[in-house]
Amino acid sequence: MIPPSHALPFPDGFLWGASTAAHQIEGNNTNSDWWEFEQRGGSAAMGVAEPSGDAADSYHRWREDMDLLAGLGFTDYRFSIEWARIEPAEGQFSRAALAHYRRMVEGALERGLRPMVTLHHFTVPRWFAERGGWTADGAAALFERYVTATAPVIRTGVRHVCTINEPNIAAIFGAVPESGTEAPAAGLPLPDKAVGDALIEAHHLARVAVKAISADIQVGWSVANLSYQALPGAEELAAAYRHPREDVFLEAARGDDWIGVQSYTRTRVGPDGPLPVPDDAERTLTGWEYYPRAVGHALRHTAEIVGAVPLIVTENGIATGDDSRRIDYTTGALMEVAAALEDGIDVRGYLHWSALDNYEWGSYKPTFGLIAVDPHTFERTPKPSAAWLGGLGRSRMLPRAGS
Ligand code: BGC
Repeated sequence: MIPPSHALPFPDGFLWGASTAAHQIEGNNTNSDWWEFEQRGGSAAMGVAEPSGDAADSYHRWREDMDLLAGLGFTDYRFSIEWARIEPAEGQFSRAALAHYRRMVEGALERGLRPMVTLHHFTVPRWFAERGGWTADGAAALFERYVTATAPVIRTGVRHVCTINEPNIAAIFGAVPESGTEAPAAGLPLPDKAVGDALIEAHHLARVAVKAISADIQVGWSVANLSYQALPGAEELAAAYRHPREDVFLEAARGDDWIGVQSYTRTRVGPDGPLPVPDDAERTLTGWEYYPRAVGHALRHTAEIVGAVPLIVTENGIATGDDSRRIDYTTGALMEVAAALEDGIDVRGYLHWSALDNYEWGSYKPTFGLIAVDPHTFERTPKPSAAWLGGLGRSRMLPRAGS
């Protein structure tokens, strides 16, 4: 562990930014499966407390979002483009939606923000869900066709493309939310193997399709890492538990240009399986254990599986109403990133989740944002953590905790 006042040993070109996802901030994503799911109140397996509605209205206010991020000191912005808007009906592509996302790419570049573009972040067009989602015949090829159609958005000026966000979570409930099985008391349900296989196939097809658009684009995907920690004697069980939930998706990234590491908390595994969060542990607004060290574990585990593929932290953060806990959490997380770099792990960037308070898949209550958003006026107000984290991009010095 490095001392807290240590300079952050980020190499030149290190990505320093924040992340968002279209459905969570744009608003009125009415042609997506999630919108329809929300209107029904969710499913027995996954309740939806409130619909996404206008979200942060970022479909119209993306310029304000980017102005703020650039002004705060960030150099990178990860956002997703929405398949349901780009291909509103099967085989019909919207030139207006493509032009919208192209304006976002250009708007980012004009402000000195390097855009990282995610092509799929949990939502699919309704027509795609209605024809059976990822396990229907030809699903991966339909995704490949959509990826090819995004050429006008990503052809120039986009260095990093993330094909699919958290395929391991999407294989549990993301693409067709009602397919999610009952959540267990601790840990994650088992991903649907057929959905997982289709997502891996879709990723591999998308990788080729993106390279055909521009060989300069660095292609990867981002995997949710639950930082499984085995209690003594439970090592084999933890590895067996982790493999279908995480490692198969990391293994599928072996030929990629980079791999996204997304980490928030840990999961301890005892002799009978995953353990609940201990009663005396601090919890965040999502109910997860407050555990800033998770990202260090996630980076090291990912590096072990993917070998030479460079790593980018594409999400890491905390749902809290107390912004000082966000700074404390992120200080701990960045110390872990720095320690991983010092140990020779090839980490190329850190993008915080999230730029904005947003729609947390069923509720607005878990606030992950560096920037608060008024739900009525959509006014943005950066929190102290936003100036602190943005400023670290320039100073590269982590202050001593508590100072
Ligand atoms: C997802 C985000 C989500 C965040 C916090 C990740 O699973 O990519 O969409 O909001 O974690 O739950």
